[in-house]
Amino acid sequence: MFNPAKLSSKYINKVLSNGFRTSSNKSFNIALINEFCKKINVKYGVTLSSGTSALHVALLALNLKKNDEVIMPSITMSAVAYAIILAGGKPIFADVEKDTLNIDPKSVESKINKKTKAIISVALFGLPPNYTELKKVISKNKNKIFLIEDNAECVFAMHNGKYAGSFGDMSTFSFQSSKTLTCGEGGILLTNNKKLYLTCKMKSNLGYYINNHNYKKNRLNLQRTNFRRHEILGFNYRLSELGAAAVYGQIKKSTKIIRYRLQVGKNFKKIINNYAFVTTQKIPKRTNHSYWAFPLIFKKKNYYELFTKLFNKNGGDFYYGCWMLPYKEKFYKDLKFYKPKCKNAESIQERTIQLKTNYYNHRELKKQIKILDKTLKQIETKYNAR
Ligand SMILES: Cc1ncc(COP(=O)(O)O)c(C=O)c1O
Repeated sequence: MFNPAKLSSKYINKVLSNGFRTSSNKSFNIALINEFCKKINVKYGVTLSSGTSALHVALLALNLKKNDEVIMPSITMSAVAYAIILAGGKPIFADVEKDTLNIDPKSVESKINKKTKAIISVALFGLPPNYTELKKVISKNKNKIFLIEDNAECVFAMHNGKYAGSFGDMSTFSFQSSKTLTCGEGGILLTNNKKLYLTCKMKSNLGYYINNHNYKKNRLNLQRTNFRRHEILGFNYRLSELGAAAVYGQIKKSTKIIRYRLQVGKNFKKIINNYAFVTTQKIPKRTNHSYWAFPLIFKKKNYYELFTKLFNKNGGDFYYGCWMLPYKEKFYKDLKFYKPKCKNAESIQERTIQLKTNYYNHRELKKQIKILDKTLKQIETKYNAR
């Protein structure tokens, strides 16, 4: 069995044998940032402790004021809404496209007003949203509206010949354990904007001065008792060297790791194409999917319900129901913000399943494909669902 985590061991061992000491020019954090920036073709990167902290510092860098609004998709993991609220903003929920399940640029346009400060787009399940249309919508406005790409579920997928991660003013990624590139918990933020980069770096690193600082001119300044280190308020959201070494080892072989996930997506798609009562995300032209997960979208809720019974009984692997809409979660209701209504999202979410795609063992994958086919056939028979 191919185990992507094993690609990391050589680099992790280096961190261990150095006793966790790094001089900054030998840091795996720096090496990882360089690799990511080169691959996505952006100038600056900040490694972080998670995808959530990456979103949080991205929003902190925008210095949101009371009542500033940030538009986000209605189907996504709730960390996006958390980050907006914790940075002092108000999440405004845009509806999703019926076929891709990604944020609908038309819905975004209808939500923009003078208070709109930013839009967070999410590459849901690994499929980049329509950046071309989103950027067109943004460019119609006189006020600057920032685009933040949340690529927590997406790695090295493209839209119109460019990698997801290179469209927004900032973009964020997650290295949490289910993700294609992983160190258990971690993340990275990318940007081409030097000012945003410096702010994000400081916000995530306890506000330490980083630019043209006295200590860089002369390290002995650190020994003075009147030496001031902290310029702004910030968090400790740093990624450990162990984490950075782990992802660094995988990024070097990312083509192979991603190929496995694409294979899984392709195989699942082949099966569901035989059944008219279930579908998956439409992949638009000049866009490709990176399949962090494979969604099954059932035409009716009762097909979904039967699937949940049968798939488990047939020995299907563990899967998740589609992300609950953040505005239907308790934390959101408790905040007593406004009550959104996103028709497409509400209808799709209750009929959608997220199948996992991290199979690096062909036998196990084959078994799961058979179980999926068997389960769908049983549903077809029961409901005559063609
Ligand atoms: C779309 C999205 N954004 C943000 C996150 C948060 O990432 P993390 O778990 O690394 O904090 C996730 C996690 O799965 C996610 O799916």
